[in-house]
Amino acid sequence: MAVPMILDCDPGHDDAKAILLAAADPAIDLLAITTVAGNSTLEKVTLNARRICAVAGLRDIPIASGADRPLQREPRIADDVHGESGMDGPAFGEPDVPLAGEGVVALMRRLVDESPEPVTLVPTGPLTNIARLLIEHPEVRTGIREIVWMGGSTGRGNTTPYAEFNALVDPEAADQVVRSGVPFTMCGLNVTHQAAVTEDVVNRLRGIDSVLAEVCVELMTFFAGRYKSLFGFDAPPLHDPVAVARVVDPTLVRCVDANLVVETTGEWTSGATCVDLHGITGRPANAKVAVELDVERFWDRFIEAVRALG
Ligand code: RIB
Ligand code: CA
Repeated sequence: MAVPMILDCDPGHDDAKAILLAAADPAIDLLAITTVAGNSTLEKVTLNARRICAVAGLRDIPIASGADRPLQREPRIADDVHGESGMDGPAFGEPDVPLAGEGVVALMRRLVDESPEPVTLVPTGPLTNIARLLIEHPEVRTGIREIVWMGGSTGRGNTTPYAEFNALVDPEAADQVVRSGVPFTMCGLNVTHQAAVTEDVVNRLRGIDSVLAEVCVELMTFFAGRYKSLFGFDAPPLHDPVAVARVVDPTLVRCVDANLVVETTGEWTSGATCVDLHGITGRPANAKVAVELDVERFWDRFIEAVRALG
């Protein structure tokens, strides 16, 4: 039976691919796409979600626009990585995919209440929307199967030495969500960096005769250029689809139980996700932490999704 899921994202080159995998894979029933300020402003990431859905022909999945800033901190974007539009590379037309009339928290709560099965939330941006949902409607927790987040890292960060971007934008939201008691899985940089977009992956996409595959290649080409110049990567990591892959087939992403806490006060370390992989703190395990990706089967599943939507 397909897993009912809501994808909360900040498209974003890799978020766009997460949308494609979540929408196309038969293991998932994608109930909604919600957006949050992160890689770019809320306006731009929401337009980008509509753009990729229009290219993919996804017109029956509600898209709702959420938080335009973190719970407490000043907004910050990643236009160095994703470009001025938040999804630079392809030339997109005006999307013919509308926005849902509901706010994100109301939509999430309604969908959870209406679902006959507990709903999986997959945030691939800052956790602002998820935190607001849990703060405003704590009773919704019983209807949430788990939260599978692309964010954080068991190692170094990518935006500060110790903080990954999604965690750094809104550490307070991440802290609230981790402490909420809802089953939580973290797919951090340590595992998403295993999802390297190699030339072989790009060539497999080039082998799909569709506008969508062509757009994916253009997105990946831009993303690769930025990762090369900013980080010296020969093949950029496609972060966000890894979190979706964990829901598609949990055997694709191996996790360990560990204690996870989020730093919110450190002058130099705010946003750090402190994962006790070896149980040295004595604090109880409160999260599943992804440590290994089945790279070959991951890409097979992703390429199949693009092919199915083409
Ligand atoms: O650090 C990588 C994460 O930050 C990804 O989700 C990317 O889309 C950005 O949101
Ligand atoms: Ca993202």
